[in-house]
Amino acid sequence: MKPRHFISLLDLTGDELRQLINRAITLKRVRDHEYQPLKGQVLGMIFEKSSTRTRVSFETGMAHFGGHALFLSPRDTQLGRGEPISDSAKVISRMVDCVMLRTHEHETVTKFAANSRVPVINGLTDKEHPCQLLADMQTYFEHRGDIAGRTVAWIGDGNNMCHSYIHAALVLGFTLHIAAPAGYLPDPDIVALAPSHVRFFDNSISAAKDADLIATDVWASMGQEAEQKLREVAFKEYQVNAQVMAAAKPDALFMHCLPAHRGEEVSADVIDGAQSVVFDEAENRLHAQKALLELLLCGDAKISLLND
Ligand code: CP
Ligand code: NVA
Repeated sequence: MKPRHFISLLDLTGDELRQLINRAITLKRVRDHEYQPLKGQVLGMIFEKSSTRTRVSFETGMAHFGGHALFLSPRDTQLGRGEPISDSAKVISRMVDCVMLRTHEHETVTKFAANSRVPVINGLTDKEHPCQLLADMQTYFEHRGDIAGRTVAWIGDGNNMCHSYIHAALVLGFTLHIAAPAGYLPDPDIVALAPSHVRFFDNSISAAKDADLIATDVWASMGQEAEQKLREVAFKEYQVNAQVMAAAKPDALFMHCLPAHRGEEVSADVIDGAQSVVFDEAENRLHAQKALLELLLCGDAKISLLND
């Protein structure tokens, strides 16, 4: 039987994503150390790029569930010496029970998955960051309830996070306002998937107007460090600051996947202010990914152990 992968948020239906979010909320509340549904199982984690949250949350989640996580980097494995990704996938997936990859090219993850015997999870590519959206959506549901029908404003780069927000708008049924400078808009093929859920604005204040949630991300993502100065100029009108938050609804939340650059994409008073839920988002990486691991690796019988 073909394994079930999580490469994109579009791999989940709206019902599945809502169930996963509810499950993550339960797992967060009920910290039962006796519950070890992944006892003896191993998650291989391949990181071509740096990570704090993704690595710590997956490794901790596997430990909570009685399993083990294996950190693999191209620098120390044959992946970095040119062994074909298809061969690597065939070998690694004969030994471990699940694989998480953080890579540059999205095709590395899809190629790995096509050659894997076990579920593959996208831990960030240049194109998408679906695990972060599990946590962001859990955070919104916890603070404000279901996000269907709400308005989210994405201010800044049309990057991997923006793409996954477009997917979330489609799967969960909210409207996404996007304000991004010319030349940094999201991939039109991704926008074309959700035409009735996405609206573009030429400035941050208009995009933020009456929004329930404001989200942003760094101006230069991993791999774009050489463009930092150029991007600082292109994005200078796209900072989320008090004026932008004031255009949103009074109870609007602020989210950022982190790491953040205070004074660039977000002002310190916003990210450290009362409307910011960035550290809930970061914590929820753990709970949401535990729910994801259950979905991909456990049968219903094991999952029911903890249900209320
Ligand atoms: N948000 C996020 O993915 O963080 P890391 O790069 O630290 O994993
Ligand atoms: N867009 C950022 C997200 C980091 C979690 C990057 O790709 O570097």
